[in-house]
Amino acid sequence: MPKQDEQMQRKVEHLFLAEKFFTDEAYADFDNIRLLHNALPELSLNEIDLSTDFLGRKMALPIYFNAITGGSNPSTKFNTELSKLARQLDIPVSSGSMGVFLRLPNETSDSFTVLRTNNPDGFVIANVSAKVNAQQAQSAIDLLNANALQIHLNGIQELAMPEGDQEFYWLDNIKEIVAKVNVPVIVKEVGFGISQNNLADLYKIGVRNVDISGFGGTDFAQIESARNHELDLTYLDQFSLSTVESLLESLPYQNRLTIFASGGIRTPMDVIKALRLGASAVGMSGLVLHHLQKYSLSETEIFFAEFIKQLKLIMAVIGAKSIADIKKAPIIFDERLINYANQRNIT
Ligand code: FNR
Repeated sequence: MPKQDEQMQRKVEHLFLAEKFFTDEAYADFDNIRLLHNALPELSLNEIDLSTDFLGRKMALPIYFNAITGGSNPSTKFNTELSKLARQLDIPVSSGSMGVFLRLPNETSDSFTVLRTNNPDGFVIANVSAKVNAQQAQSAIDLLNANALQIHLNGIQELAMPEGDQEFYWLDNIKEIVAKVNVPVIVKEVGFGISQNNLADLYKIGVRNVDISGFGGTDFAQIESARNHELDLTYLDQFSLSTVESLLESLPYQNRLTIFASGGIRTPMDVIKALRLGASAVGMSGLVLHHLQKYSLSETEIFFAEFIKQLKLIMAVIGAKSIADIKKAPIIFDERLINYANQRNIT
């Protein structure tokens, strides 16, 4: 790979800085809601079914590995391990943005295709920015023989990036991609959340699947500010919506849009709470990145096996046999979230 390419270098820095800033504490607002237990669950643990419909395919678990990387030497190694882990757990896995592949296919395609070669029958998701054209989006899908496409919205990140875009006309382009590509499309944020106004805009142009990817975990205003030695632009993250706030924003749209949740997922309890608030599946980037960087693949497998076991324990405690049952569990919001919902007219 050419050493000096700026975009490839940026991928390396993102991996390094996301891990540097990772903490076990997230601030996605999951701590500000409570689920009540059921003292009479009337179920047996082996009746609990975590399966979910993931864009038309039945998956055994309601979790997925969200977009992280591709397009650099370290990302080839990382994506190889990530795809093995996804195959082992049988959960969907997304590539990082494939813009660098569209620009430098020969140099970078291997760093992405490992996601498919190591996981031939898995659910693999391609990822592009909202400014690529439909033909480019289709070639990203074709490279991975992808089952779905993510289009990321990253305005705050671009503003915080020294080399970031300054043009943000995306809707017409997204509309065209959704109409032309041959797989389902998920529009996603990158950790700053999505408001109901934006969900309305996306619905109008034909988008039917949105990953609200809220604030509280990986913070690209912080990461880009660390790359930009001249300026501290972390204040840009003050405009964001936490993952829980974004899920509240999505409530009026959940009968029309399939909502995926990500951003600051740290624990099985966070997953269950996100499902309770209407997510159809829950994505993780920072958490799996941290484990694969800090521990071996087999240690990470053990971590996620335990994580999945605990999803079932929590379901038992709230008396839920299925994901549909989780959505009926009693829930209590703290005053700040009630205030948020009131001011945003969310009932
Ligand atoms: C990301 N994320 C991301 N998203 C995307 O759509 N395309 C991308 O290329 C990337 N790149 C990327 C690199 C790294 C190192 C990380 C950690 C994350 C964003 C990611 O998919 C997710 O939306 C946010 O990170 C919030 O989730 P977590 O990390 O808090 O679980």
